[in-house]
Amino acid sequence: MTKRVYAVSGASGHLGRLAVQELLARGVPSSDVVAIVRTRGNVADLAERGVNVRVADYTRPDTLPAALVGVNRLLLVSSSEAGQRLAQHTNVIAAAKAAGVARIAYTGILNADNTTNPLAGEHQETERALRAAGLPFIVLRNGWYTENYTDRLAQYVEAGGIVGATGRGRISAASRQDYAVAAVAALLQDSEGNRTYELGGQSFDLFELAETITKLTGNDVRYRDLSIEQYRDALQQSGLDENAAEFVAAIDASIARGDLETNSQDLEALLGRPTTSLANVIGEARHRCA
Ligand SMILES: NC(=O)c1ccc[n+]([C@@H]2O[C@H](COP(=O)([O-])OP(=O)(O)OC[C@H]3O[C@@H](n4cnc5c(N)ncnc54)[C@H](OP(=O)(O)O)[C@@H]3O)[C@@H](O)[C@H]2O)c1
Repeated sequence: MTKRVYAVSGASGHLGRLAVQELLARGVPSSDVVAIVRTRGNVADLAERGVNVRVADYTRPDTLPAALVGVNRLLLVSSSEAGQRLAQHTNVIAAAKAAGVARIAYTGILNADNTTNPLAGEHQETERALRAAGLPFIVLRNGWYTENYTDRLAQYVEAGGIVGATGRGRISAASRQDYAVAAVAALLQDSEGNRTYELGGQSFDLFELAETITKLTGNDVRYRDLSIEQYRDALQQSGLDENAAEFVAAIDASIARGDLETNSQDLEALLGRPTTSLANVIGEARHRCA
């Protein structure tokens, strides 16, 4: 393996942490791995394994150069602060360029070229910023995390149902672990040139999700498909303010239009194996709940 220094931002988050762990699992020496975080204490376990922990904040350009010193390849995990992300990502891209980072991999959104997902704008703009920076890049257009649903397993079982407005829209979701493994595989590649991957797993719709949960847990869970208006009202009744309810309902409308479905095999190809099945991710969630 070529000796390089790899950095992962958002390393205190779910995906970033898994990516750091995968770099180590793939045999990258911990001394060649940099975990960029806002709070050092959140990754004490990684520091104990010898990973270099550096503190930086996407919103504070002054903190970024020191975090990127000597880094050859950076996995920029998109920020969780929706609305501020373009400015934040642009700061990181500029700092990476100034620091001489040779390649940057960015976690974007599936079908970014034509999606109507209301979360997509900042990802699309970040892709444009990456292209404009002229730095070699990899875009990992991630589909939905299966955990977006399985994290609510106990709630679904308790309620006996899932409520949404996705119709028969299919979701090519995959586990965070699969996306992290794929991100690292892409980051480690020796090949030159920019790459854009459309990443998703085996698709399901929410009727099938409910059926699979029912089968695996023995609890009857049904999917109740509402109109967008009914769903928005239901979200407001459950405590969301008008704007948040509108936003969440618009995500379901986008799913109903097929924006989170793909038949791309990029994820399997990067993994070198089939993606983790929905049943397995549900199984892991059950294990965590138990
Ligand atoms: N595909 C999907 O279904 C899906 C679902 C949810 C999110 N996402 C996107 O994918 C990203 C990774 O997912 P995840 O599950 O790992 O999210 P997560 O657990 O919320 O992690 C987000 C990471 O971003 C870091 N971060 C946020 N603002 C930052 C800033 N200003 N400066 C530096 N770091 C900052 C957080 O640091 P702290 O620990 O300091 O907060 C955290 O490490 C998310 O941030 C979001 O953009 C995708």
